[in-house]
Parts: sequence; C-alpha cells; structure tokens
Amino acid sequence: MTQKQLDESTAYLQSKGFEAPEIGIVLGTGLGKLANEIDDAIEAHYNHIPFFPLATVEFHSGKLIYGTLQNKKVVVMQGRFHLYEGYDFLDITYPIRVMHQLGIKKLFISNAAGAINLDYSKGELMLIDDHINLQGGSPLAFKGVSKYGDRFVDMAEPYDVDMKEKLQKIAKSEGIILRSGVYASVVGPQLETKAEYRMLKIIGADAVGMSTVPEVIVANHLQLPVVAVSVLTDECDPENLAPVNVQEIIEVAGKAEPKMVKLFRRLIEEI
Ligand code: HPA
Repeated sequence: MTQKQLDESTAYLQSKGFEAPEIGIVLGTGLGKLANEIDDAIEAHYNHIPFFPLATVEFHSGKLIYGTLQNKKVVVMQGRFHLYEGYDFLDITYPIRVMHQLGIKKLFISNAAGAINLDYSKGELMLIDDHINLQGGSPLAFKGVSKYGDRFVDMAEPYDVDMKEKLQKIAKSEGIILRSGVYASVVGPQLETKAEYRMLKIIGADAVGMSTVPEVIVANHLQLPVVAVSVLTDECDPENLAPVNVQEIIEVAGKAEPKMVKLFRRLIEEI
C-alpha cells in the first residue's frame, strides 16, 4: 500500500460520483441487503477499483455502493476481504483507508459470529464492546506506518462509546435484543475445535469470528470512530458441539438481518 495507490483508488471513486460520504458501512456474511435500500445508488465493483484486492468468495458480491440512507450520504461495502482468502492484513484493511480518504466521519461494521457465551442465542445481535485479536498479526505492522497515523495506537476504547450507547438505546426502543460482549477474531477458515471453544470462553470471549478486528484497528489508527455489531449465527458449546454448516450461518444471518438494518438506519439518523 502506498499513498499514491490510495489516491488513485479515491480519485477513481470520486470520478464515479462518490462525493463526500459521511458514513462508511461494512456488511458482513449474509448481511448484504441494506445495500438494496440505498437511494440514488452508484456502484463500483471491487475488481474495477484501482489497487483494490479482488473479491473471491462467491457469496460476497464484492462491491462498494454510494448513495443516500436516511438523508445522509453513505458508502457501503457489500462483502469484505478476509485473511482466510489468502489476503494479507494490508489488503483486507485497504478499503477502510479508501473510505476514510473519501471523507467518512464514522464507520459501522457488521459480521456473523459464533456465540461462545452460551447465555446468548443464535439469531441474536451482539454489540461488540471490546475485542481480542487472535489473528497473529496487525494491519499496522508495516514500514512507513507512521506516515498514516501513530504506530503505537491506543486501544483502551477501540469502539466509540457514544455510538455504542446510542445503539443500546435504539435497540431498547425497537424491542430488539442487543447483547454486548467481547469478540475474538481468528484467521479461519476452519471452524474451532472443542478445545479452542473452551479456550475462547476462558480468555473472556463472548463471540468468535474471522473478520472485523483488523478493520477496527485501522479505524483507530485513522482516529475514525467505529461501532460493530455481530449476528450470532451458531452456538459454540464444546460439550454439545453440532457441526457448523456455512449455509446455515448465512441463513441465520439473513433472518437476523432486518434487525441489523433497523439499528443501522436509526443510528444514521441519530448521528
Ligand atoms: N467460528 C468462527 N467464525 C464464525 C463462527 C464460528 O463459530 N460462526 C460464524 N463465524
């Protein structure tokens, strides 16, 4: 990644009409529908944007969409890049830096995750209060990082407190159960063993997934306020472990999606 590449990606999108979005939104696995509700949408496929990584996983349609939601200009990532697809930390966080250069002031992230906390049920939403990075690396471990922001980024409060509070209030007023907890990120793509689920519980994780944390680290590097919500798509009980089926994960995420859309729409209104 170089500044020149970021400038070219940004200039391409601006030439397509991606003018001054206020909010960036990352849509996770099974959560792409919010993109269909954008007014006056302009789309850019990832493989047309200069220096963007290429989308590979077939259930991610892989495009950036610009337009209006609740009267605010947004840019939405429909599909994200994962380490398990063979990308590196710089690839998977490149779109966050581009959205920041386009001008976003806030970032909303969604994902599908397994429930480690067995008080939480599949189909419920969980606000990510904090995280544990188990991906064995950092998107800030590269030469020249300090040209883009502090190298030693503080992570005492990685998720924006004000947006977290707003989401809790919105969920309450909409009658949506919004759990809160710690998200642990792993590389994947294999699911966890029973021993790994036991470990995740012991170290304090409430949910586990294969994304989000690198994006959140980069948002903090850019001093970009970020909030993230998981859809809990499976229950990771090591003593009664049912094999996880990716199709089912996508289905459960799809069923919970309207709740996520509602929360994000109202948060856009309120910030
Ligand atoms: N583990 C890791 N990632 C996941 C899971 C899981 O159980 N469910 C959804 N994403």
